[in-house]
Amino acid sequence: MNKLKQRISALLVAIMLLTMVPTAFAAIDDTGFSDVAANAWYAAAVSYVQTNSLMSGTAFATFSPDTNIDRAMLAAILYRISDNPAVSETVTFADVTADDYYAAAAAWAVTNDVMTPGENGFFGGNESVSRQEIAHILWRHAGRPSAEASVDFADETMIAPYAAAAVDWARANEVINGKENNYFDPNGNVTRAQMAAIIQNYMTLRQKTIEQSPITDDNRILVAYFSATGNTKTVADIVATTLKADLYEIVPETAYTSDDLNWTNPSSRVNAEHNDPSFRPAIAGDTKDLSNYDTILLGYPIWWGEAPNIVWNFVESSDLAGKTMIPFCTSSSSGLGSSGETLQALSPNADWQNGQRFSGSVEAATVRQWALSLNLPSNTTVQPALDTTPTTPEKRSLVVYFFMPETADPNNMTQDEAQSTIVIDNEVLGNTQYMAYIIQQTADADIFRIEPETPYPTDHRTLVDLAADEQDKNARPAIKNSIPNWETYDTIFVGYPIWWSDMPMILYTFFDQYDFSGKTLVPFSTHGGSGFVGTPTTIERLEPNAKMQNGLTISRDRIQDAEKDIIDWVNGLKQN
Ligand SMILES: Cc1cc2nc3c(=O)[nH]c(=O)nc-3n(C[C@H](O)[C@H](O)[C@H](O)COP(=O)(O)O)c2cc1C
Repeated sequence: MNKLKQRISALLVAIMLLTMVPTAFAAIDDTGFSDVAANAWYAAAVSYVQTNSLMSGTAFATFSPDTNIDRAMLAAILYRISDNPAVSETVTFADVTADDYYAAAAAWAVTNDVMTPGENGFFGGNESVSRQEIAHILWRHAGRPSAEASVDFADETMIAPYAAAAVDWARANEVINGKENNYFDPNGNVTRAQMAAIIQNYMTLRQKTIEQSPITDDNRILVAYFSATGNTKTVADIVATTLKADLYEIVPETAYTSDDLNWTNPSSRVNAEHNDPSFRPAIAGDTKDLSNYDTILLGYPIWWGEAPNIVWNFVESSDLAGKTMIPFCTSSSSGLGSSGETLQALSPNADWQNGQRFSGSVEAATVRQWALSLNLPSNTTVQPALDTTPTTPEKRSLVVYFFMPETADPNNMTQDEAQSTIVIDNEVLGNTQYMAYIIQQTADADIFRIEPETPYPTDHRTLVDLAADEQDKNARPAIKNSIPNWETYDTIFVGYPIWWSDMPMILYTFFDQYDFSGKTLVPFSTHGGSGFVGTPTTIERLEPNAKMQNGLTISRDRIQDAEKDIIDWVNGLKQN
């Protein structure tokens, strides 16, 4: 049956039913949905999401307001908000077929880091989404804006660390409000009616952001870029249009041919330039006058992990003193790496900000969102050139930790369970997790928990045996999740329990996966009497180009009273 026939047939059935039982459909005239009464608290929100084609009914004349939102629905809604962009990168999931209504949305959401894929190659479209997950996903969609942490919710400690910033943002911007008695209920489900209200709030915020966005026509913002094959140009165009900024292309005096760009040929032009870091390819035209600009977004392709030499030339030959510099790049797979720091070293009198990497085929919506999330100041006057020491860009720390919860029940613990946990406000935390939280708060850091693809057993004896087996086999247990924007962190605290006188093998997987060259690593652990047993030295061996700082290990017998020691240790590191 084609779609038209289906609709007509549904309409006929509806007309028949209407004639038979008129009262059952009393609300249709008002909201268009038989199950949404005109005076329902969510009627306006349902009408809003329907009118704006963000959510539709679940069947003819039915909205199903009490049904819980699942991942498929959420992906579809956000995809519609983003104008259904074409999905150029091929992402498939074992549980999504091309005919599924949310197939493109799921691929888009994962490609653009709005949603995390499910386990084992699945998307998990049928899984419901909790309130804190929704906050986290909307926050990622919004470009991870920062927000002041306001008054704590009564159940603040129940909010997972990964969602803390997102919940702060959702509350501060009235996207998701608290429930009665100042409870957030992070693990509670969200119904379609509630989702409609949240989406209406979110769209109101987006509108406000665009209206208040510091976009002006006075062209204090410049997007300068170099692009050899067009990827960075595409991104630069979108950034400039979004910010109503001026655009300047760094054009080489001698254009790069495809032979020149053949980096696999050792005698190609790019190889010759790469092998001579002092070489500065000439830029066509006069030196660009930058005196009218406060903020310059500088775009380039990543070549061997860095900006091309011609971009170094631009930075060195321009007067960037006192200007805010925001690097962005496109690449096949590398991150921004140290390219931002290298540029900063070439022009230290500018105020260099953290940059952003895009894939060569990034969606326009992602770029637009990043540009808006920068919240660049409007109508600013040109700052006088700094004659004092330049401000260094904000340092960012991350706490990464692994721990294996043996129980979540604060009552009736076995002795083994009690030794590996600490109970705070009736919530069970792992010893290493507890340390991680204190470090996060003291260092004002982000936090990331390493999660195994295959969950470890919770039974103590089975876990201990499995850990020994993994060590015997020198195993590399797979990690399910990855650190978002890991390249942007300077200092990474890495925490783990000691298992059989070593780090759990999953930490070896972790260090195999990330190259922390140039970053500072700070180990911390909890142990049952052995101390660190040489694990910092092992990390040093696995990450030879990272800078190691002295770590802290705490016995599980002392963890209950260790808060002050941990805080003092972190504060001591800050002074080094
Ligand atoms: C000489 C050269 C070196 C490259 N090195 C890297 C690299 O280290 N890592 C990476 O992910 N991509 C690398 N790429 C790919 C480019 O970063 C990527 O295709 C980029 O989007 C090109 O941008 P453009 O079209 O603006 O020139 C390299 C490309 C060239 C030509």
